[in-house]
Amino acid sequence: TELGLVAVGFSGGQCKDGVDAAPMALIEAGLITQLTSELDFNVHYDGQVHSYADLRPEHDPPHRGMKNPRAVSAATQALSAQVYAHAKEGRFVLTLGGDHSIAIGSVSGVQKAVRERCGRDVALVWVDAHADINTPESSGSGNIHGMPVAFLTGLAREEDKSMFGWLEEEGKVNLRKIVYIGLRDVDRGEKKILREHGIRAFSMHDIDRHGIGKVMDMALGWIGSDTPIHLSFDVDALDPMWAPSTGTPVRGGLTLREGDFIAECVHETGNLVALDLVEVNPSLEITGAQETVRAGNSIIRCALGDTLL
Ligand code: ARG
Ligand code: MN
Ligand code: MN
Ligand code: MN
Repeated sequence: TELGLVAVGFSGGQCKDGVDAAPMALIEAGLITQLTSELDFNVHYDGQVHSYADLRPEHDPPHRGMKNPRAVSAATQALSAQVYAHAKEGRFVLTLGGDHSIAIGSVSGVQKAVRERCGRDVALVWVDAHADINTPESSGSGNIHGMPVAFLTGLAREEDKSMFGWLEEEGKVNLRKIVYIGLRDVDRGEKKILREHGIRAFSMHDIDRHGIGKVMDMALGWIGSDTPIHLSFDVDALDPMWAPSTGTPVRGGLTLREGDFIAECVHETGNLVALDLVEVNPSLEITGAQETVRAGNSIIRCALGDTLL
């Protein structure tokens, strides 16, 4: 199978340095070898980690409370075009972050290509401790990595092309086609948004109650068996015990096996067309950095069809 790999060393969606080093850490831990020799992918990779520093404006003051709005907008717009180019060729697209704001680019690029190729909308499986659906107004932090789902669905809008106004309808995602898994730190305003729009979400409580097997049946049942899937996996969905090196860790998360199991189940649908792995920050909790990188690579392998037996 053909696979497009985009390495995104971008950290402007939040305030901690280091998340930009994740793609190199994942690659140095053997990711590309795994994809080519073990999983038989033909990898299309430009050999670069994109930071989009050249697109960053000198003057980027907050707008509607958003931090670095023009830098994040420009980076995600460029990423969207790169991802679209891979997806349009029918390649599976693997995007390595970077912070979760980059999903504005990866998901919109995949969605646009899927619509053109088969006239369908993608389903978005968002595995995360957080819902990342704040609007600029509901956000307490102003960090755009807490807002990508709001922009991708059109819940948050901007006219200005230099601040996400470039997002076209063809790149946006249907609210009924989003499923969250692993939530445990959702802001007040986000809860209101999830409730008002009837967005399908499985929290850690649901996983405790039903077990991950049943939750995956329900999550994938909601999507249906004939819909292309984009899996956006924030490593902070895992418990900090397994993935300590991340910018916004929240205790009480998924085990390593639950994380891998989610990825395996999505793979088994046969409908996965794209994967993001984001928020690995090797410079935080450095004694656990290699563990976190290994956990990230494991999730990628599972999503791409590495089986236990
Ligand atoms: N809800 C918080 C915020 O909006 C945290 C978001 C964390 N997002 C993430 N991608 N790690 O700032
Ligand atoms: Mn998160
Ligand atoms: Mn996230
Ligand atoms: Mn398989």
